[in-house]
Amino acid sequence: MKRLAPSILSADFSRLGEQTASIERAGAHLIHVDVMDGHFVPNISFGSAVMKSLLGKTELPFDVHLMIENPDKYAGDFVTPNTEFITVHQEACTHLHRSIQNIKSLGVKAGVALNPATHLGTLDYVIDDVDMILVMSVNPGFGGQKFIPKTLEKVRELAEIRAEEGLDFEIEIDGGITLDNVKEVMDAGVSVVVAGSSVFGASDIEARVREFVKW
Ligand code: DX5
Ligand code: ZN
Repeated sequence: MKRLAPSILSADFSRLGEQTASIERAGAHLIHVDVMDGHFVPNISFGSAVMKSLLGKTELPFDVHLMIENPDKYAGDFVTPNTEFITVHQEACTHLHRSIQNIKSLGVKAGVALNPATHLGTLDYVIDDVDMILVMSVNPGFGGQKFIPKTLEKVRELAEIRAEEGLDFEIEIDGGITLDNVKEVMDAGVSVVVAGSSVFGASDIEARVREFVKW
């Protein structure tokens, strides 16, 4: 099943509850939570308190994307009754195998994200352990950037590996997704689609989510 995960990074933070309710009503499947520390990426977003302010206000599962150094230290802060995935960056984890096991031991699903320039081969020895691989289709740090088409090759390769090895991890794509390229990325094998500015930048957020999930 394909799932849409609108990124609240592009929401109006002063109306976060309201805008989250809109995406939920319109049929979004997950809330993508972009956490940036100003070290791993050149921008600071928000921490777990902002995410937790949505608890009890939405039934949607949280899809946490940690763009931070030392993710082992902070992952536990993002475990809530709504948390489905916690994803760390391969580039931020010296001991990636340990980081994946750490997330799983917290009782949530573990994802690993790859920057556009990072080779898939870096995941060869942990691919059996992950619940999701997040393919960054922009360089992480900001919403509203342009999709990097070359990253689709990585998605196609991953989908092949998954089929050949009989694995069942989700493939997520994140960055620059619009109504114009969403079909292409899904055809390449993506099962979880992140969309930030193209959802929350719309004048009618609900209508935009409905268009996205028409697939
Ligand atoms: C980028 C973030 C993305 C971003 C997506 O660093 O990880 O999740 O919010 O935003 P758009 O869809 O606007 O590229
Ligand atoms: Zn993200």
